[in-house]
Amino acid sequence: MTRKPPLSRGLGDAPSREGPPISTVWIETSHGRAFWADSAILMAAFERASIDLIVTSPPFGLVRKKEYGNADADQYVEWFKPFANEFRRILRPTGSLVIDIGGAWIPGQPTKSLYQYELLITLCKEFGFHLAQEFFWWNPSRLPTPAEWVNIRRIRVKDAVNTIFWLSRTPWPKASNRRVLTPYSESMRTLLVNGYRAKKRPSGHDISTKFNVDNGAAIPPNLIAVANTESNSRYLKYCEEHNLPPHPARFPASIPEFFIRFLTDPRDIVFDPFAGSCITGEVAERLDRRWICAEIRDEYLSGARGRFLDAPTANVRKTQISDDDFYKIARPGILWNGVLEPALPSDGGRARPLFTPGRSPKSKLV
Ligand SMILES: C[S@@+](CC[C@H](N)C(=O)[O-])C[C@H]1O[C@@H](n2cnc3c(N)ncnc32)[C@H](O)[C@@H]1O
Repeated sequence: MTRKPPLSRGLGDAPSREGPPISTVWIETSHGRAFWADSAILMAAFERASIDLIVTSPPFGLVRKKEYGNADADQYVEWFKPFANEFRRILRPTGSLVIDIGGAWIPGQPTKSLYQYELLITLCKEFGFHLAQEFFWWNPSRLPTPAEWVNIRRIRVKDAVNTIFWLSRTPWPKASNRRVLTPYSESMRTLLVNGYRAKKRPSGHDISTKFNVDNGAAIPPNLIAVANTESNSRYLKYCEEHNLPPHPARFPASIPEFFIRFLTDPRDIVFDPFAGSCITGEVAERLDRRWICAEIRDEYLSGARGRFLDAPTANVRKTQISDDDFYKIARPGILWNGVLEPALPSDGGRARPLFTPGRSPKSKLV
């Protein structure tokens, strides 16, 4: 039997003073609904303790330059508070709140805003959430940005991870890492074949023969490696055919899928309050979870319709694992031996280097 999502009060279609109508159902399937709505308003109609998982990627921090160059992270946290209030009310005690949030650079200077950490601290200290674990999403296809600090002045490294905060209402959200196992690395497979000599590690950990047991798969770390390179999906084709803008800040399906599998059971209810192209809804549908999406811009929801035209692809399990399924990252130090170290810029890179072909770099003050 299909149960409707847990809206306790009816929501009319009367337009609010600005933005979308209070709520309009834009997409409806057997498992869920996507609303054109301001999610802060929509959530007021949800029953208390009715949602099992909120998984979302909110708009990232709006960092503006103030007189002294400091970021106004405070505004972001203030903006977020009404959402946080509702998240706390609508989550079940066993439920989780997963927030994918990218960092932000302070305009004009090579330092970063603290806004996502301030948000995390506010969610825990003021709203009583628990930090179940922090994750890092490494996007191996991320371009080397910010170019000014990374490519030109060479004073920062490529910014390639997003923080993903896994929060919960209680210290005991339901979860099982057995749902998100990964293949053993090559070295672990060799170890399982050749055997392991039980001994104490330098850290003091006693690595007993229990670590020699082949459990079929490995427990993943809190680093999620996935490139954001979708280019040929039915969603993108639908947007193109209908002259609709593809959402410019989508996360890959593996991000919501990891947490939906890890933290919910079939038929549980998943909510994405900043749904964009409704990828969370699409994944939830495929995994037999009920879902609700809310998005404030209707053009993104129009494109999202393309995700729900065909029957959800079956939960196909891939049996052949190839090298393409792994990303390799070099350990630090491989190029360190014997390489001359160029002098560090004593001004911290404040002067921008000028490159003239055939000449050594000169510097110009900004
Ligand atoms: C980073 S995007 C989410 C992208 C999405 N994860 C995807 O993969 O398509 C954030 C979205 O939140 C929407 N948004 C901002 N404020 C909102 C609000 N109050 N209610 C609903 N959606 C909102 C924005 O329009 C934007 O599409």
